[in-house]
Amino acid sequence: MVTHRSASSHTPVLLSESLRALSVQPGGRYIDCTLGGGGHAASILDHSSPGGQLLGIDADPNAIEVTRERLQKYKESVLLVNDNFVNLQAICHKFDFSPVHGILFDLGLSSLQLNGNNRGFSFQHDAPLDMRFNPKQKVTAADILNTTSEARLAYLIKTYGEESNCYRIARSIVKERPIETTRQLARLIEKASIRRGKIHPATKTFQALRIAVNHELEYLETSLKQAVDILGFGGRLVVITYHSLEDRIVKQFMQRESRGCVCPPQTPICICHHTPRLKLINRKVITPSITEVNLNPRSRSAKMRAAERITTPGDAYATTEDHSFITIAKSNGWRKPALMKKIRMAFIAA
Ligand SMILES: C[S@@+](CC[C@H](N)C(=O)[O-])C[C@H]1O[C@@H](n2cnc3c(N)ncnc32)[C@H](O)[C@@H]1O
Repeated sequence: MVTHRSASSHTPVLLSESLRALSVQPGGRYIDCTLGGGGHAASILDHSSPGGQLLGIDADPNAIEVTRERLQKYKESVLLVNDNFVNLQAICHKFDFSPVHGILFDLGLSSLQLNGNNRGFSFQHDAPLDMRFNPKQKVTAADILNTTSEARLAYLIKTYGEESNCYRIARSIVKERPIETTRQLARLIEKASIRRGKIHPATKTFQALRIAVNHELEYLETSLKQAVDILGFGGRLVVITYHSLEDRIVKQFMQRESRGCVCPPQTPICICHHTPRLKLINRKVITPSITEVNLNPRSRSAKMRAAERITTPGDAYATTEDHSFITIAKSNGWRKPALMKKIRMAFIAA
C-alpha cells in the first residue's frame, strides 16, 4: 500500500538558484524530469506565467498523484507523466513537447519517499527492502541482496556506494540470507563494520542498492544526452545532484558538450570533428548557502550545474561561420528556431 503524504513536506533545494539558472521567462516551456513533491514545478509555473507550460515527469506514481493535487490551480498549463526520464525523448515526442526553454533534473529521492515507511529507502523505518521508484518495476533491493553473488555484491557496494568495507559487508549479507527488511540489513552492516565515522555505517550500502535497483547512473547519462536534443537554442539544462557519482557524470557530460575537439591529446590533428552544443553557465558548481542548509539539512550535499544550448535542434554547426552566427544571433536575443534557421541560411549565403 502506498502512503500518501502532503506534497508540501518536501522542501525544494536550491530553488531560487535553479530558477535563475533555468532563466524562467513568461510564456516559456519547461520540463521538470523529477517532479517529486512539485516544489520546483510550482515555482517554474509561477515564474513562467502568463502562457508558460510545464511537462512534469516522475517514475513514482505516488509523486504524480500527490503533486497533481498540488498543481491543480495550474492545470491548464501542466502535463504530468508517470514515466522514467530515461524515456525523455519518447515522452516529448508523444506529447509534441519540444523544443523547450529549460529542463531541470533534481536527482535522488524526495522526502515523501524517504519518509514513506513502506518504501525501504531508509533504515530509520523498518520496512521490506523495496527501493523501487516505480512499483511496476520487477527487481527490488531484496531480490538483488538475495540472488546476487558475493563478488558482484561487493562490486555494487564499492562502485555505487564508494564503501571501502564492501567485501566484509557482502560476505555478511551472503551468510545471513535471506535479507528481507531495512533494519535487518542495517544491523548486519553495523556488525560487519570496524570503523565508525560521522555517518551511519549502512548509509553507503543503502545508497548503492538504491542506485542499482533504479539504474540511476546509466539512466542519468542516457537522459542528459536526450535533454540536449530537446532544448531549443538558448535553452537551459540544470541538474542538481546529491552525491559525487552523479555529480561526476553531470560535470563530465557538460564539459564534453561544451568543448570543441575531444580527441586524445596525443592526436596530431582533430579526427573527432566534435562541436560544442552547450555553454557552461557557471564555471564553478553551485551549492546551498549555510542558511539553506540550516533550514533544510537534506540540502547539504546538493550541487547544481547548468549549461545553455548554443546550437539549434537538428543542426551540427561544424563551421566557424556557424559559431559567429550563433554569437551574433545570441547577442540579438533570437531564440525562435524557425527564425534562427532562416537567419542562419541568410548568414551563410552572405
Ligand atoms: C529530489 S526529488 C525531486 C523533488 C522536486 N524537485 C520537488 O521540488 O519536490 C527526486 C524525484 O525524482 C524522481 N526520480 C528519480 N529518478 C527518476 C527517473 N529516472 N525517472 C523519473 N523520475 C525519477 C524520484 O521518484 C523523486 O520523486
